[in-house]
This record gives sequence, C-alpha cells and structure tokens, in this order.
Amino acid sequence: YTGPVSIPVVVNIIETVDGNVTQAQIDSQIAILNQDFNNNNPRTSNVPSEFAGLVADTDITFTLANVVRKVDTRTSWGTNDAMKLSSQGGIDATDTSNFLNIWVCEIGGGILGYAQFPGGSATTDGVVIGTDFFGETAAGGIYGKGRTATHEVGHWLNLRHIWGDGRCRQDDFVADTPTSDAPNYNCPSYPTVNCQSNDMTMNYMDYVQDDCMYMFSNGQNDRMRALFVPGGAREGL
Ligand code: ARG
Ligand code: ZN
Ligand code: CA
Repeated sequence: YTGPVSIPVVVNIIETVDGNVTQAQIDSQIAILNQDFNNNNPRTSNVPSEFAGLVADTDITFTLANVVRKVDTRTSWGTNDAMKLSSQGGIDATDTSNFLNIWVCEIGGGILGYAQFPGGSATTDGVVIGTDFFGETAAGGIYGKGRTATHEVGHWLNLRHIWGDGRCRQDDFVADTPTSDAPNYNCPSYPTVNCQSNDMTMNYMDYVQDDCMYMFSNGQNDRMRALFVPGGAREGL
C-alpha cells in the first residue's frame, strides 16, 4: 500500500496521582511519533552515507483521539497485560481495529515498554510504555526522549529487532538492514562491525539510547505498509 496512513491514538493512562502524566507529556509523545515516522527527526542528518539512501519516510501520522485516565497506586504492572483489562485493574482497550491503543503505567523491572505484534488478541492489541519513558521526560534520562514508543509502534507494525533476535544468521525479514548478532546499547560510534557488516545502530529497532536512534529503513517501511492493504492485519487504519 502506498499513500498516507493516519492512525488515531487512544492513550490509556494509569497513574498513581490524577494528572501526573500531563497533557504536555502526551502531546510531546504524539509529536515525536509524527517526527520519526515522517523522516522529521532532526538527528537523522547524522545517518552515515552508507545508510543515507535507505532512510524511510513512512508517511504514517498519528492523531490523538482520546485520553482515558485511571488512578491506581500499583507501581509494577509487569508485562502480562493486566493494565489492558479492567477485570485486572487496568483500562480496557478502545476498538483495536480502528485505534492504536497506548497504555502508560509503571511497568517495573527496568522495562521501558513492550508491544503486541499484528495478528494477536484484539483485547490486548497495542503498546505499553513505562510512565517515565512516555514522551519527553527528565525522569527517563537517556530514555526520556520518547523513542520507546517509536520502537514499540515499530513492533506493533510488524517490525522485528534489527539484529533479528538471534545470532548472525537470524534475519529480521528486512533485506536492507545489515545482519547483526545482538543489540547495541548507549550510543555506538560508526562503524560498529558485527557479522562482517556495519550495524545500522541508529535504527529505531536497535536498543540504543533515544538520541542515538533516528531512522527506519525503506525495507522496514515496506514491511509496515504491507499491513494496510486489503486483508492486511491493520487494514482498518
Ligand atoms: N526494551 C524494549 C523493547 O524491546 C524497548 C527498547 C526501547 N529503546 C529505547 N531507546 N527507547 O521493546
Ligand atoms: Zn523491542
Ligand atoms: Ca536484515
């Protein structure tokens, strides 16, 4: 599918104090998603020439449709989707065929966020972002620049980690992202060589810090866009 895609977003906030997650924090996250998926991240100018021709403008925009809030003192929701179910103290998803649901809560365990790939259960479809890593926050430190949501929405749009979650021969099913054997962290210098090729460490689907990830590749764009064709897993959007 080619052409613009517009995705309405419902932000489900479970906070320890009402209003803790400010509207400004929410707005900053939506703005960062729009930057990153439309090749407007100012740091993209740092992409080395080897990869510059592969930088994608996915032409996917995100609009804030609704904010749902709930107060709960729990500080470690974990990763078993309890935050997505009112029966477990969370907030039920809004119409996951037509909205991207983002849950914001204290995940705990040092986890920044997690996502559900396309094709999973409708009731739990969406992404979860830890409160300190949602939008621009001081509390998030080097992960406080809103790129956890970019990474998780990448998963939600069927992207795998750039290193394929395995050793050199495990693929991420994207031809233009070089093979690697493991995640990169912090802010690697270029070139970082693994599996006899230079890693695309600045890709949103690596594990580097927020300021050091600033591109999706054209192959990743194709993989995401395949979801929006008739019969595709995200065709409702
Ligand atoms: N560890 C998480 C995941 O695999 C998120 C990583 C996000 N990275 C970042 N720089 N914000 O889904
Ligand atoms: Zn990931
Ligand atoms: Ca690849």
